[in-house]
Amino acid sequence: MAAKGSRTIYACQNCGYQSRKWLGKCPDCGAWNSFTEERERVAPKESAGIARSGLKLRETKPVSFTSIEAQDDVREVTGIEEFDRVLGGGIVPGSLILIGGEPGIGKSTLLTEVANKLSLLFGSVLYVSGEESERQIKLRGDRLGINPAGLYLLSETSLERIFDEINKLQPQAIIIDSVQTIFSEKLESAPGSVSQVREVAGQFLLLAKNLTVPVFLIGHVTKEGMIAGPKALEHIVDTVLYFEGERHHNHRILRAAKNRFGAANELGIFEMTGRGLIGVPNPSELFLSERPLGASGSAVVAAIEGTRPMLVEIQALVSSSKFGTGRRTTQGVEINRVALLVAMLEKRVGFHLSGDDIFVNLVGGISLDEPAVDLGIVAAVTSSFRNIPINEHTIVFGEVGLAGEVRATSHAAVRLREAARMGFKRVVMPQNNLSGLPEDDRLEIIGVRSVIDALDTLF
Ligand code: TYD
Ligand code: MG
Repeated sequence: MAAKGSRTIYACQNCGYQSRKWLGKCPDCGAWNSFTEERERVAPKESAGIARSGLKLRETKPVSFTSIEAQDDVREVTGIEEFDRVLGGGIVPGSLILIGGEPGIGKSTLLTEVANKLSLLFGSVLYVSGEESERQIKLRGDRLGINPAGLYLLSETSLERIFDEINKLQPQAIIIDSVQTIFSEKLESAPGSVSQVREVAGQFLLLAKNLTVPVFLIGHVTKEGMIAGPKALEHIVDTVLYFEGERHHNHRILRAAKNRFGAANELGIFEMTGRGLIGVPNPSELFLSERPLGASGSAVVAAIEGTRPMLVEIQALVSSSKFGTGRRTTQGVEINRVALLVAMLEKRVGFHLSGDDIFVNLVGGISLDEPAVDLGIVAAVTSSFRNIPINEHTIVFGEVGLAGEVRATSHAAVRLREAARMGFKRVVMPQNNLSGLPEDDRLEIIGVRSVIDALDTLF
């Protein structure tokens, strides 16, 4: 029986969809077995000016549009370049920023470093941890070589208690590690459930806007997506950053999935070292550092993520399948895109690939969904299929259409500049991108109209 003033609902722990009945499959996000029972308390009326969690809010009134000062220039720059870049040039005061990632990827490490910088620049910063004790956080700080006087640690999971401390301390920035561990005493559901996580995020949104301080929420994502988290919060927060990477590789990629104050898809690249995260200002160098020269199945593509050019190696392996029909396996590129490009190669170029297993990997644990990598995939697959290596000084880019045509892409000049900077000599790129390109005598530029043209040039 539900307690008085509350009712039982079932919520999808993946996306937050709510239903009065238990469902086996979520009609919204399609997840199976993701519904759990939660109690939703009907919130009692409260006096105006006091948020549910006890924060004293300043009164709001309508303001005339013309009297508002634009504040695009007031971003707080942390000095952690890769982090500032992903946020669109710095932190916008009053914004609520969610940082999602799998456990152990380095979220607490990154935010400890951010907290350190912010406290040195702007005064007191509160780091709330629901997972670790103050001493554990201090140990991490020792490892990072930081000891900031303005950084306050609070090991607490009650939202109401945290808000009390915020009222007392009046910090200039707040970090919550992690949103899944914090719970409001006003709700009956367990910490980490969709209702709790949303309530916590909602209250911090109110707080961020009201005190005009940035609030960072750390959120865990599991591969199964079973813990309520980032997905259920994406529409509440201003900015969503995902921290990605493979645990066995040292580099980490911070990606903006949503940003109300900047470009989405911007990337920051870090390396995890024994003394914390170090920014990687030159990702092309990192991604090409272990490239095998003279091996078939390897192509280098000039890609753009956000506003940033990067050269990435694509590796393909085509081998005959034991089972008659070939499988397609990809890492870092969309599997459907590869299937489509392979079908195009069969139909337009005449390859027989249906009996082959095809593996396509982006080297370095990065993933790209940019159309300009198409020509790189086609080149790598063909190189492996024919067992002919691509010239090591050649780089490719271009979108490939279903008719086998090579289509123009954006930012051609930026890609070329990066290719030249990294010492490449020859570029195979869309013919339609050639007009108006700046002269660059370091590069031999070959425009192609079709995949057949491109393959003739490459092999
Ligand atoms: P952590 O930030 O605790 O991950 P998360 O908060 O995302 O769960 O860091 C995880 C890993 O990083 C851990 O295995 C230890 C490692 N690490 C380093 O390699 N160097 C460092 O300087 C620190 C602080 C951590
Ligand atoms: Mg952590």
